[in-house]
This record gives sequence, C-alpha cells and structure tokens, in this order.
Amino acid sequence: MTLFSVCTTDTLVDAATALKSGALVAFPTETVYGLGADAQNPEAVARIYSVKGRPADHPLIVHIDSMDRMGDWAADVPAFAIALARDYWPGPMTLVLQRSAIAKDFITGGQETVGLRVPAHPLALGLLKAFHEAGGLGIAAPSANRFGAVSPTTADAVQEELESYMADTDLILDGGPSLVGVESTIIDCTGDAPRILRLGAITQEMIEETTGLVVTDATSAQSDIRVSGSLESHYSPKAKVILDVVAVAGDGLIAPDQIPTPNGVIRLMAPSTNEQYARDLYRALRLADQKGLEVVVALQPGGDGLAAAIRDRLQRAAHE
Ligand code: TXA
Ligand code: MG
Repeated sequence: MTLFSVCTTDTLVDAATALKSGALVAFPTETVYGLGADAQNPEAVARIYSVKGRPADHPLIVHIDSMDRMGDWAADVPAFAIALARDYWPGPMTLVLQRSAIAKDFITGGQETVGLRVPAHPLALGLLKAFHEAGGLGIAAPSANRFGAVSPTTADAVQEELESYMADTDLILDGGPSLVGVESTIIDCTGDAPRILRLGAITQEMIEETTGLVVTDATSAQSDIRVSGSLESHYSPKAKVILDVVAVAGDGLIAPDQIPTPNGVIRLMAPSTNEQYARDLYRALRLADQKGLEVVVALQPGGDGLAAAIRDRLQRAAHE
C-alpha cells in the first residue's frame, strides 16, 4: 500500500490507472473516506469485501463525477430524483434508483436498485474525472473501515485500520479531514416519493423543499431494502458508548461546548455547533480507542436535521 500525502493531477491519473487495473484506492470525500474499486470489475469489488471484512450481499454506492452519468447506472430516473441531483450534487447525498444493465449483482447485492453519489471533495471529483477519462464508468466505494467499525474521516485513520489488509499495489489518497464527518443521506427514489434510508447532512426538510413531495423517514421503520448502516449496532468503537449520563473520572466525554468537563474526565470533543459535532464525532470515537478508554459518555444534540443524523450514529455506536 502507498499513501500519497500530496496529490497532484499526475497522482490522480496514476490512481485512476491503478483502479482500472484492479487495485483499490482509498480516497477522501466530504462525508468520510471511501475504499474505491472499479465498479465494473467483479474481482476488484470482491477485494473491497475482503479488505473490509464485510458480508458479500451488501450493496455498494457507485460514485460518479456528474449527474449527467446517472443514465449509465440507472434505468429509470424520476423527475424528483433529477431535482435532488441538481440541488445537492456534488454533495453528501446518495440516490437509490432502478439499476441499468451495467449495475451487476456484485454491486447491488442482487437487488434491482443501485445507489449513486457525486461526492463534493475536489480530490474525489478529480479522481472520478481521471477515471472516466481512462474509460471507467464509476467507482464503487463503501466507507474505508472494517465492517461495523467507525468510518474514517482522515487518511491516517484509513491507514491504521486497513493497512494490514490492503495489497502492495493499493493506494490511499490524503485529502485532509472530511468536512461533513457523517455518511451521506441515502434516499430511495424508486417509489412515488422520496424515502430516507439513512440520515445525513441533506435533511428531510431540504428534500421536501426541493421535491415538493411528502418525504418518508424509513430509517427507524421496517424496511425490506438492505442498508448495512441500518443494522442496529454499527459505527462502534472498542470503548463502550453510553448516552446521556453524567461522566465519571476515567470516562471519555463527547458533549456540546457549554457542558463542563467533570474532574478526571477525558474531554474528547466540545463542539459549539451541530456541524462541528458531526465533523469531529468519528475522530473523537477513534481517539477514545487510541487512549484505551473503556467508557465514552456522549450527550446527544437536540433538534432536527443534522442533529437527527448525529443521534442516529450515536445510538448505533452505543448499541451492544
Ligand atoms: O458518505 C457515504 O455514503 C460514504 C462515502 C464513501 O461515499 N459511503 C458509504 O458507503 O457510507 P457504505 O457502503 O459504508 O454505506 C452505504 C450504504 C450501505 O449501508 C448500503 O447497504 C447502502 O448504502 N446501499 C447501497 N446501495 C444501496 C441500494 N441499492 N439500496 C439500498 N441501500 C443501498
Ligand atoms: Mg460504512
């Protein structure tokens, strides 16, 4: 594995070539780092599953550089999905659409739908453009962590977590810390109106405003669509996460900045906004493990929108 801490246009062309020849390339996005493979190459995609230790029937998000390429991967794109793509791509949003013949079972987990996203990070977009120029149609990329663990928001976190599973020819591109910090909002666009499958920075209110439709939040409801992020235990550090209690000496603490740190408690973050809370959450959970803490107390933020996405991740991290 080679880590590029400075990425030039040449680096991106080399990384695109590596992807075309079947290597894995971990790359930054504005949400979290992804572990990328050529979405048309079944052997390369199989290696994503082995490096992540992920069950093979979980579908992967295909990343593309522009909404103009939706038609490559999706068979039928409703007007409201086009409106969402126009308003929020590039950005932290994944659209689930009816698949085209190009989206094979090894990408969709055997489902008739495919998840598509145009990420907003300049390195991700640069890599995608170089990959398209090299003849590729899309980069399949789950978050670059072991299955069930906390998603990485820095290149160092990817390296620490996956280095021992990656091959010599695989790459990691360092694009600095991810600015959103929680995974994209996933929206099922295969029905008459949007259904939210995973909460994120694109909120229910934003989706309703763009589409003028009533949006269902299917994240807590029963769903027959397989979303690994909807397993109850996920995004978990080794430390035990306990929500909304008073931290005692020796515990780690994640709480808004107006909450003081009790004596002997290790403050892991003190965000003053929900945006900061989301951005720094996974780094703080990783820090807890680096410090060998046994317990992390987290105080959940109140409110809708991004706060709901943060609570969703905290509750999964806390689930045993
Ligand atoms: O922000 C993100 O979405 C990041 C960055 C790297 O783009 N990616 C990410 O991928 O979080 P992953 O694989 O860790 O989570 C994607 C989720 C999975 O839970 C998967 O089940 C769901 O998206 N998914 C993918 N395709 C789907 C589909 N066709 N139908 C329903 N869910 C789908
Ligand atoms: Mg993930």
